[in-house]
Amino acid sequence: MVGHAFMGAAHSQAWRTVNRVFDLPARATMVAVCGRDEAKVTAAASRLGWAEAVTDWRELVKRDDIDVIDVCTPGDSHAEITIAALEAGKHVLCEKPLANSVEEAQAMVTAAVTARGHGVRSMCGFSYRRVPAVALLRRLVADGRLGVIRHVRAVYLQDWITDPEFPLVWRLQRDRAGSGALGDLGAHLVDLTQFVTGQLITGVSGSTETFITSRPLPGEASGLSAAPASAGVSGVPRGAVTVDDAAVFTARLSGGGLATYEATRFATGRRNGLKVEVNGDRGAAVFDVERLNELEFYDATRPALEQGFSRILVTEAEHPYLAAWWPPGHVIGYEHSFTHEMRDFVEAIATGTDPSPSFEEALRVQRVLDAVERSARDDATWTGVPA
Ligand SMILES: NC(=O)c1ccc[n+]([C@@H]2O[C@H](COP(=O)([O-])OP(=O)(O)OC[C@H]3O[C@@H](n4cnc5c(N)ncnc54)[C@H](O)[C@@H]3O)[C@@H](O)[C@H]2O)c1
Repeated sequence: MVGHAFMGAAHSQAWRTVNRVFDLPARATMVAVCGRDEAKVTAAASRLGWAEAVTDWRELVKRDDIDVIDVCTPGDSHAEITIAALEAGKHVLCEKPLANSVEEAQAMVTAAVTARGHGVRSMCGFSYRRVPAVALLRRLVADGRLGVIRHVRAVYLQDWITDPEFPLVWRLQRDRAGSGALGDLGAHLVDLTQFVTGQLITGVSGSTETFITSRPLPGEASGLSAAPASAGVSGVPRGAVTVDDAAVFTARLSGGGLATYEATRFATGRRNGLKVEVNGDRGAAVFDVERLNELEFYDATRPALEQGFSRILVTEAEHPYLAAWWPPGHVIGYEHSFTHEMRDFVEAIATGTDPSPSFEEALRVQRVLDAVERSARDDATWTGVPA
């Protein structure tokens, strides 16, 4: 695994757990973790359960006792690490968004296609797909329970940078992150809504905004919980914010429906509010990550007397992924989506099948993000997403 902070910890927990919960045809062994600082990566290896710590990812890619590379770094290193790993015959799980640009994502797809020819698998880490309630929503749509999809309404709302003194961490720098709320949060929404509807976004009209254009330089800080520079302390050097703070866009879906999206880090009071509603001509469904074990479902074919949204507690053994966990009603949490991600990835490797989301699917997300940025630069002009 490369990178050992937020996603590094989440993925480690999943790697530690996956074979203890799921009965799989292969076993994951946590061989080595990479970070750039020797003391930090050594401490992380011991805390997270990796046998060894290294300071250069190239060392991992060369080793014969490593079959899988898990990329948990910021977007500016995804392409280089992933392409080198695939060329060395390693299966790759790469965090989202796949890359910082369409060009990089395209190069990663080319490497993945070549590697696939030699039985080497690749997957992008759109983890919300693996929340059981989201997987159930997809199943309901696929089974026709919602009918023809007319509307999708998707928001991903955070508020961790509303303080203008919050430091200029990598997520606020275009050369490191590619884009801001759009690529970080909007990418999840694009993947999730294309996943549950089984449809593609064919065109967009978008607007983006950077509300706070300069911030204190970050020092050691990198994550979402970095401390703001002390209010009133003068002389802390500042730098320019080079990404969007918020993005909104409308979209058309390949099945004829209309969709709206909002991704922001300025939704005061919303810590991690991901919510998606899908309306079809036979029913509707709502997923809200703050109620992760639930799916609201409205069945328009029921008698008028009984109509109304019902709350499905998605904890039955019949629900996706849940047979392996606890008895019905004993709820799961955020980290379980990563265990499910590893489950599907390990199974795909062991059975010689291609996991989803593939790099091609992730490239498709990247093309939507790119179309939103181009539209926003051109006064929200309608912009098609290349097939
Ligand atoms: N699936 C999700 O829900 C989800 C959530 C958060 C982040 N992410 C994605 O995960 C990735 C990492 O985000 P994060 O929040 O974990 O970031 P983070 O800042 O918490 O951690 C990044 C880690 O990468 C390391 N790193 C950076 N460059 C490196 C290099 N060249 N070699 C080795 N290590 C390097 C850093 O030292 C740090 O350990 C991003 O692509 C982000 O978009 C996904």
